[in-house]
Amino acid sequence: MISPKIVVTGKIPQPGIDLLSTAGEVWAWNQDDPIPHEIRDAQLANADAVVTILTDTVDDAFLTAAPNLKIVANVAVGYNNIDVDACTRREIMVTNTPGVLTDATADLAMGLLLMVTRRLGEGERLIRSETPWKWGMFMMLGSGLQGRQLGIIGMGGIGQALALRARAFGMSIVYHNRNAVDSKIEQALDARRCDLDELLATSDVVSLNCPYSEDTHHLIDAEAMRTMRNDAVLVNTARGPIVDEAALVEALSTGVIGAAALDVFEHEPEVHPGLIGLDNVVLVPHLGSATVETRTAMATLAARNVVGFYDGTGPLTPVN
Ligand code: GLV
Repeated sequence: MISPKIVVTGKIPQPGIDLLSTAGEVWAWNQDDPIPHEIRDAQLANADAVVTILTDTVDDAFLTAAPNLKIVANVAVGYNNIDVDACTRREIMVTNTPGVLTDATADLAMGLLLMVTRRLGEGERLIRSETPWKWGMFMMLGSGLQGRQLGIIGMGGIGQALALRARAFGMSIVYHNRNAVDSKIEQALDARRCDLDELLATSDVVSLNCPYSEDTHHLIDAEAMRTMRNDAVLVNTARGPIVDEAALVEALSTGVIGAAALDVFEHEPEVHPGLIGLDNVVLVPHLGSATVETRTAMATLAARNVVGFYDGTGPLTPVN
């Protein structure tokens, strides 16, 4: 059999490239800047497999440029950047990288939760601005997590891993998910399933851990924020457009909710200018899976999916 041509459209860790090289001839974009479309399309013209990153949009135009394509291996757990139905219609397999980034993303969500409730971003800004300060009994008081309720929207692996961490900090857990999770897991986490309105109305912290889709677009809009407590904290490590960012700016500025911590943005990499000047929001640049170990594991899993596709064992984590 002729060796398949595998195109990698973004820079990924070398172990992923090494593994892909065992399955075919690899062409990889190896710069930090996004691949220009002309270069991408020229490579796609004779690609059999493509390894994508979450900033690639795999839509009809992409697929039309790749007439021989058989598999799209996304190096991300989320695959909202891929038109899966269009791939399925063209009999193209899609894979993602679930599991390997669960701990890193849950760690980041917990970190953001601590940052926002203990006002660590504000503290950093104070010191770095060289503003004179001295210790004060009432200086920059935040709130503790013990005895507070965490409401998790999306109780997949990352939601469960966050619940485990939050339990260690003394929080109680409610969750909203299409299906109930296994009762053993519910018991271990002491987590109770409830409807979205109850979760929003009663939680001290609301964390978004669900996939982004048409169903979750602007799930947290102005009305949802009005349902939340006015001291509630919103944490988003899932996808930006789950939150109506303009409505969030309004809610944070007018005391409709207390604070927010965001790893993802509605029009990423742009951040709503109204968020920049607010002290009650923590902003970080989509770092959920950003550890050396996790990004290496993601690249390796995506590569294994391609290898499995060609050696007949099948991809480990197919989407369609
Ligand atoms: C990161 O956001 C991912 O979906 O892997």
